[in-house]
Amino acid sequence: MKHLLPLAVMALIAAVAAPAKAPHLSPKAQRGFTFAQAHCAVCHAVGRDAQQSPEPGAPPFELIANKRGVTRTTLTVFLRDAHNYPEAMQFKLDRRAIDGLVSYMLTLRRPGYHPPI
Ligand code: HEC
Repeated sequence: MKHLLPLAVMALIAAVAAPAKAPHLSPKAQRGFTFAQAHCAVCHAVGRDAQQSPEPGAPPFELIANKRGVTRTTLTVFLRDAHNYPEAMQFKLDRRAIDGLVSYMLTLRRPGYHPPI
């Protein structure tokens, strides 16, 4: 098993380094992005210009961020209380993780965004 570790580390570095599409992020947003790649990307497309989520029922983060009425507050409340549906998503996020995630997601907002579908 020992020899698998370097591979895993390399894969991790590649995963973190590759989607460098994100423009300059604040440290907080960067932390959120890293967290999202680790914990949300199995289902959600978390990057910028991502067209399709791995789990078709999960909206891309970019789409979520650009939805009308979505603000720091609505996202924070959602992540704090409610992200337990579908069941596979049962997890508890601490305040620091939520803060980073929300900061990152808000960097995906842009005027004139059109949903991919
Ligand atoms: C197991 C798959 C899965 C994982 C992991 C997952 N999600 Fe989701 N998420 C979904 C699905 C499916 C929906 C759509 C649920 C619905 O519309 O009822 C959703 C919805 C959302 C929404 C609401 C979108 C809206 O339209 O209001 C947010 C915000 C969100 N997810 C954030 C996250 C974050 C942040 C993480 C990581 C910490 C995460 N999700 C991890 C599957 C997942």
